[in-house]
Amino acid sequence: MSKSILIRNGRLIDPAQEIDAVTTLAIKDGKIAAIGNQTPKSADEVIDAAGLIATPGLIDMHVHLREPGFEECETIETGTAAAAAGGFTAVACMPNTEPPLDNDAAIEFVLRQAARAASTRVYPIGALTVGRQGKELAEIGLMVRAGVIAFSDDGTGVADTGVCLRAMRYVSMFDRLFIQHCEDPSLAGGGCMHAGPTATRLGLPAIPAAAEVVMAQRDIALAGEAGVRYHVAHVSTARTVELVRRAKQEGRRVTTEVTPHHLLLTDEACGSYDPQFKVNPPLRTRADVDACLAGVRDGTIDCLVTDHAPHGREDKEREFQHAPFGMIGLELALPLFIEALVTPGLITWPRLIAALSTRPAQLLGVTGGGLQVGQPADVTLIDPQREWVIDAEALRSKSRNTPFDGRTVHGRAVGTLVDGEWRHRDEALRAM
Ligand code: DOR
Repeated sequence: MSKSILIRNGRLIDPAQEIDAVTTLAIKDGKIAAIGNQTPKSADEVIDAAGLIATPGLIDMHVHLREPGFEECETIETGTAAAAAGGFTAVACMPNTEPPLDNDAAIEFVLRQAARAASTRVYPIGALTVGRQGKELAEIGLMVRAGVIAFSDDGTGVADTGVCLRAMRYVSMFDRLFIQHCEDPSLAGGGCMHAGPTATRLGLPAIPAAAEVVMAQRDIALAGEAGVRYHVAHVSTARTVELVRRAKQEGRRVTTEVTPHHLLLTDEACGSYDPQFKVNPPLRTRADVDACLAGVRDGTIDCLVTDHAPHGREDKEREFQHAPFGMIGLELALPLFIEALVTPGLITWPRLIAALSTRPAQLLGVTGGGLQVGQPADVTLIDPQREWVIDAEALRSKSRNTPFDGRTVHGRAVGTLVDGEWRHRDEALRAM
């Protein structure tokens, strides 16, 4: 176990300090010790990072770790190992477990399991309502005391307007982020893909774009009333992106996030009838994808997330209509975001890292997001050139459900440090 580490010759990108330079990063006793000229000449371990990018640890603010209740799909141990392998030093996990994370004991359980797993940091997101049923408010105050950093009923939205406003008021008292899965059940109910020509051709019940748009629109009005910081989960439609853009222009505290699949795939992919493409919100149209890309480009979309949603093989092999929604993403997100955003020149590397680290840290109010001296040494080393072929069978996650299996991608996390300790390290990472 190294006490001091020097990472030399790498391109250091820290959006929090506006650093983008080839320089040295020094780590000592689990903290960032120095950057650049101030760094010592030697250390217990010296890494030659020539050709690599060193960044503040990536933070995924939207994952499903499935524990408790669905340990056959993922556990906190396997999910955080997958996260570290994907370059993430922290994940925020959604409460749609069984039982749901709607009380302080459940939160304490997650934090205990995370400490035992000793991979990435884990930030639990508490349920807004008891059992995620959308009726009675959950013990929000007790969950804050237990360590919850944000609230959501993700997997479903809070449909009842009165309950939603009460939940927003309660969450705002603790200055936690209110994350909504925007989907009006009376419009979406029973749908399994985007409502468009492909769904019509397949004869499948569909989820219209309006299901997302109307809830986001209602919520933006409610959030203003409640004074809560409001965040649209996994945005998928052009009209929702536009709503968030306008809300920001009006100075409202509204933010959002997008997944790799909503930047790379359209509903036409579901034409293959392959349930690997079934996800919620559903894959949308080319115009929606373009609007999401433009939203990242102009900063309307704040964060990049995976919505890592592991499901067992047998479940995902059911016919499209009956298969569960979701795809895994922790080990694939980085190259997929590079492909969608950096390679075509929509955003720069510093912008990518800001959306994958600095911004989520700010929204969640957690450690990380920057490499300031004295901060915990949560660092990701990325080989931006590495070409590799996604092999679902080779992933650390317990589940294999990805539509990107077999895709050739570029860019890979080769080292992940949490508190200055290696939690993932590629064989190719050379010591000097
Ligand atoms: O596709 C999805 N899967 N969307 C969600 O909102 C929930 C998630 C899950 O938990 O499987």
